[in-house]
Amino acid sequence: MNEATTWIDLTGKSAHVTGGARGIGAEIARVLTMAGADVMLSDVNIDGVRATADEIGASAMALDVSDPNAVEAAMRETVEQLGSLDILVNNAGLVTGYSGALADITNDMWDKLWSVNIGGLFYCTRAAVPYMKENGWGRIINISSTLGKTPGAGVTYDGSKAAISQMTRTLALELTRHNINVNALAPGPIWVQDTEPPEITGQIPPATGHPLADNTASRIARLPAGRWGQPKDVAKAALFLASELGDFISGAYLPVDGGWLTL
Ligand SMILES: NC(=O)c1ccc[n+]([C@@H]2O[C@H](COP(=O)([O-])OP(=O)(O)OC[C@H]3O[C@@H](n4cnc5c(N)ncnc54)[C@H](O)[C@@H]3O)[C@@H](O)[C@H]2O)c1
Repeated sequence: MNEATTWIDLTGKSAHVTGGARGIGAEIARVLTMAGADVMLSDVNIDGVRATADEIGASAMALDVSDPNAVEAAMRETVEQLGSLDILVNNAGLVTGYSGALADITNDMWDKLWSVNIGGLFYCTRAAVPYMKENGWGRIINISSTLGKTPGAGVTYDGSKAAISQMTRTLALELTRHNINVNALAPGPIWVQDTEPPEITGQIPPATGHPLADNTASRIARLPAGRWGQPKDVAKAALFLASELGDFISGAYLPVDGGWLTL
């Protein structure tokens, strides 16, 4: 092992990944575990998160990130079970069924999305930071989205993801002096279904007449990478920020988007 390979070694570090039952969170947890970290996965889907944790050799717990008391208890339990809490990945997020065209967004959809995407990030960060301060070392990785920069999913989701990039900078200003780096990853289109992703052909589908859907479809068709992203693409970037490679990076907004934001 030369010095460069030790930079991604997370042996001795403990991580908590929210929304880890499936998709991007599950893959981030897998990669952090591969790098040597002890990982706690949490999710509202307890059966799903247990199955994922068993498969990757991590621990699991039930957690609804929008419940501040449950979040406090979950971070405490993470430290009790793993011995410390060094890395927090704020991944849990809602989109389908909670965003869309303005007229279709109910009060309940609005409240629920913001309580998970933004409330959850705030509660988890507030509960985890004291343990990181105690260690004198911490990493917080917030999962934003390129839709926080370019509109596509609707005002609830896009607005919440834009808020995450500013919350990341504000938290970085406050916490970096405690050796706690705070960064945001902004995934582009990541295929999280169990099926194979459709091919990107360059053919823009016929317009639906709805500006959100048409913007998204046209960007996907023209994506410079020419393929859908995979959860592993995001997990590699998370490892970069969680490890020694990210020692002097704080307050960053890193797109993992196959060039989406160049369009
Ligand atoms: N897939 C993409 O293309 C994409 C692109 C940009 C950003 N993102 C973001 O990445 C993150 C993960 O997305 P994904 O595509 O893997 O989603 P997903 O829907 O596949 O997984 C999200 C997980 O979060 C869990 N969850 C939902 N509400 C929760 C709550 N209140 N408390 C705890 N867990 C909860 C779900 O049960 C699920 O396991 C989200 O923040 C999403 O906004 C995804």
